[in-house]
Amino acid sequence: MILRELSEAIGVSGDEGAVRTIIKTAIDGHVDEVWVDNLGNLLAIKRGTGSVPLRVMLDAHMDEVGMMITGLNADGSLSFHPVGGLDPRVVLGKTVWVGPKRLVGVVGGKPIHLCTAKERSRVVPMDSLRIDIGAADEKEASGKVKVGDRATFATEYRDLGATLMGKAFDDRAGCAVMVELLRGERYPMDVAAAFTVQEEVGLRGAGVAAYRLEPDVALALEGTICDDLPREPDEDISPVTEVGKGPAISLMDRATIADPRLVRFLAETAELNHIPYQFRRTSAGGTDAGAIHLSRGGVPSVGLSVACRYIHSPVALCSREDIENMIRLLQAALSSLTPAVIAR
Ligand code: CO
Repeated sequence: MILRELSEAIGVSGDEGAVRTIIKTAIDGHVDEVWVDNLGNLLAIKRGTGSVPLRVMLDAHMDEVGMMITGLNADGSLSFHPVGGLDPRVVLGKTVWVGPKRLVGVVGGKPIHLCTAKERSRVVPMDSLRIDIGAADEKEASGKVKVGDRATFATEYRDLGATLMGKAFDDRAGCAVMVELLRGERYPMDVAAAFTVQEEVGLRGAGVAAYRLEPDVALALEGTICDDLPREPDEDISPVTEVGKGPAISLMDRATIADPRLVRFLAETAELNHIPYQFRRTSAGGTDAGAIHLSRGGVPSVGLSVACRYIHSPVALCSREDIENMIRLLQAALSSLTPAVIAR
């Protein structure tokens, strides 16, 4: 699966070129048109057989949360700012890849031996952290890194058979699913694919992509939050998604309420084809659907996601079967969607 390559690529928001190149190579020859728009979105058209008069937009964002280098210090260390919703609790002590040459660095901190009791019990604020690339001074650092370079966690992808581990599954899992769909046979309707930029900083690429593609329906594909770990005995709230329970259909999040007709259609399609599925049982977070559904005169939209534990951290974990079932469900949906599903 292309997920390994996609996961190990550096594509922090606003600098998605490496991811775009991998995807473009993978879909070339399987789509009828492919181009990069002014913001860097990779857009593609896979024409249908002509039997269903619909244009369906598939969306997955190429960018990941990470860091931007904002300063080279006299001691050779690098100052940085978070890009997107990076969890400050998981940054300290991690190795990172810096810049296009993938220089290895470490987010350094004071040894625990020297920390006061108060320092040990609190999260170190991100603006006091530095990346150490082993440079002796600013001059040496400036030969290797430039202000504005991106950095991301240095995480090798691991295929454990039934489970997969790696960074940036949000949303390289969605990208991998979409690549598979585009490499398949023609669908009854035209498919307009958008691999978007800058989702993690505010759904910025998707709005532009939807405006250009003018779809009748949109499906945002994601690697989404998952919290199916052991709970406190008195905690009776069910997890928002669970690994291994099938693709998760969105109901509502901070940026959109999924079109109920599309929610029903996906659930029914899954049941008809004996594909496991679950609902994404939270209103937290947001996806590109938030920008897409507001494009032009409005676009009926829904999100479908792979449940990924530990997103926005150095390592995420998901189930291979969930990814395969998401591909199957989308193939079945694209084979049976008709204008009647969204008719008013
Ligand atoms: Co995402």
